[in-house]
Amino acid sequence: MNYSKLTVRDVDVSGKRVLYRGDFNVPLDKATGEITDDGRITASMPTLRYLLDAGARVVACSHLGRPKGRPNPAMSLEPVRARLSELLGQEIKMSGECAGDEARAIADGLAPGELMMLENLRFCPEEEANDAGFAKTLADFADIYVSDAFGTVHRAHASTAGVAKYLPAVAGFLLAKELEVIGGALTSPARPFVAVLGGSKISDKMGVITNLLNVADSIIIGGGMAYTFIKATGGRIGASMLEPDRLDFARETWESAAKSGKRLLLPTDVIAAASIDDAEGTVLPARELPDDRMGLDIGPDTRARFVSEIAGAGTVIWNGPMGVFENPAFEAGTRALAEALALSDCASIIGGGDSAAAVRKFGLEDRMTHVSTGGGATLEFLEGINLPGIDCLLDKK
Ligand code: 3PG
Repeated sequence: MNYSKLTVRDVDVSGKRVLYRGDFNVPLDKATGEITDDGRITASMPTLRYLLDAGARVVACSHLGRPKGRPNPAMSLEPVRARLSELLGQEIKMSGECAGDEARAIADGLAPGELMMLENLRFCPEEEANDAGFAKTLADFADIYVSDAFGTVHRAHASTAGVAKYLPAVAGFLLAKELEVIGGALTSPARPFVAVLGGSKISDKMGVITNLLNVADSIIIGGGMAYTFIKATGGRIGASMLEPDRLDFARETWESAAKSGKRLLLPTDVIAAASIDDAEGTVLPARELPDDRMGLDIGPDTRARFVSEIAGAGTVIWNGPMGVFENPAFEAGTRALAEALALSDCASIIGGGDSAAAVRKFGLEDRMTHVSTGGGATLEFLEGINLPGIDCLLDKK
């Protein structure tokens, strides 16, 4: 996979019509419809400001939620339009449809330095079907396609991939940074390269584990997924999370790490309790849990071992928490890793999703080298596979 793509800086956008594909799929409060985390909107600001300052006429588009090809007012991009308007300090018009005569009329009326928004692209079934006619309709809004939609690069949709057949396609700053930092770590990391994997399930991360085992020097496994590894290597895990159909995978991964001389670190002690809602747990040996106890966080000895592995690293990629950090009784392991990364001089890369939520919760986001804006996209990126929303962009010569 080539991560070296042309960016907005490599093309002349002045006075040009630009189709800007962001990932404005932000969480909304179910009761009030208000945006509860505008991180993806603020992350798009550098590219949008650059385009507008350069005098581009920008048609911005995105999806929000999964409306299944039908208009749904609860998933309108209106709250995003309002927030963008506040952040940019300018009026933004939005069409009531994803593409059509009304949208076209607003786009045609844009002056240099102005921006409009299309309504949620997934209101049109042609978007997810990657319909060629719809992609062409979107392309007709512009002279240049700029993608900042890193969170959606794993989807081959009309606005994330199809449209690039009709327009010069380049990356915005947000997408370019994800490619540079994560792509750089996968291809030429500062070593030692430590991968930290957690979260509840191996099933979601088999491709990531396999790819990182190839490229990293050591792998730390914590979180719910660690217990399948512990059982697969002969431990007693009590009532902890187990994926019986992944025991073979865990055993093979363990053996393959040993054969290739890679370090694979598992918890030696855990914080265990009878339920994830308990107000406290007790420290127990990770490989000897009684039947009525489940491991819900890594224990103090494990914290120290994992932190020491990170201390010597040149690069750390972290995806998935070490325990049920939403409950303060089981957050210490995840917090210890986040604090160790904040203090370290290594390239610290947080792979989106729950780990990004954790570093935000601990107020340490700004102390990381990079916090990815992707969820599923970051995982697929870490698998090292070709992603349609990246493949479709023009390569740097
Ligand atoms: C995300 O939030 O992960 C992206 O916006 C992609 O959304 P999707 O999983 O609905 O395609």
